[in-house]
Amino acid sequence: MMVENYSKQPAGFLNIPIPKDIDLVQAIKDLRKEKNAIILAHYYQEGAIQDIADYVGDSLALARWAANTDADIIVLCGVHFMAETAKILSPEKRVLLPDLNAGCSLADSCPADEFEAFIKQYPEYTIISYVNTSAAIKTLTDVVVTSSNARQIVESFPKDAKLIFAPDRNLGNYINSITGRDMLLWNGACHVHEQFSLEKILELKKQYPDALILAHPECKSPVLKIADYIASTSGLLNYASQSDKKEFIVATESGILHEMQKNNPDKNFIPAPPNDSTCACNECSFMKLNTLEKLYNCLKYEMPEIFIDEKIIEKAVKPINRMLELSEKLGL
Ligand code: 13P
Ligand code: SF4
Repeated sequence: MMVENYSKQPAGFLNIPIPKDIDLVQAIKDLRKEKNAIILAHYYQEGAIQDIADYVGDSLALARWAANTDADIIVLCGVHFMAETAKILSPEKRVLLPDLNAGCSLADSCPADEFEAFIKQYPEYTIISYVNTSAAIKTLTDVVVTSSNARQIVESFPKDAKLIFAPDRNLGNYINSITGRDMLLWNGACHVHEQFSLEKILELKKQYPDALILAHPECKSPVLKIADYIASTSGLLNYASQSDKKEFIVATESGILHEMQKNNPDKNFIPAPPNDSTCACNECSFMKLNTLEKLYNCLKYEMPEIFIDEKIIEKAVKPINRMLELSEKLGL
């Protein structure tokens, strides 16, 4: 079965001029209260959005907040798969994404029809999918994982279990290496994390010899090999706060430096450089599509909204709930 998620609106955002002289931050706060809305933001959002959000977190935390909120409207300041996950977990709520074009190159690297044809060749395998996938991929999945729980969820399967992991080959390779598993991997990747330059990080390390290298597991293996600590965004943040070191080279999307610096004003966080210094590839261009102006219009006009076919929700919610239950059980 070929399934597609869809939106009833044209892709994009509401390009309605913002009234002049408006205090945007206050106006967003007023609208949020008036509409009983909650603003959830990922750590890769621009600082101003993180500062105004009710909660800022990694993919796992965003899913949990979306599942448990009493708000009528969830505004997901992140990318499309995060908003979809929120809608799947809270289908009775309205879920808004300030810019519907906020996609994810990693999710896009795994088209549902190709993935379905791939897994058909391995009917006896269990399908583990990273949360960075479309709702259609989730309907083909047995259990979803995020970078916060991938290791433990993979380890919850017997050592000789036949597993397929999609879509990130870097995260998959890393989990294989630390768990001694031999999962079959889908050949997908994130354009931001693949861009970090090993050579430039090593040069930076010469400049800052005491700095610890922190890396997200979506980075390529040569970068992961020299990293002092590898974890999800929230894992890296906690580590930086708890460490008694003062300097860190950070190999993940640079939006995370906002929260790192805010929580640790006495520490120095240095963004790891991308290969191509003519492009800001350590910024996720999709994440940065959301702006305060789009957030304001999104709350005011309650658009763009995420719509997903009920049948897709019915199937996609199962592997997400399995992840939430397993995470709870594993104390994550
Ligand atoms: P986290 O779940 O670690 O926040 O990662 C999400 C993501 O998109 C990383 O690129
Ligand atoms: Fe997707 Fe990469 Fe952006 Fe994360 S940083 S949302 S994986 S494109």
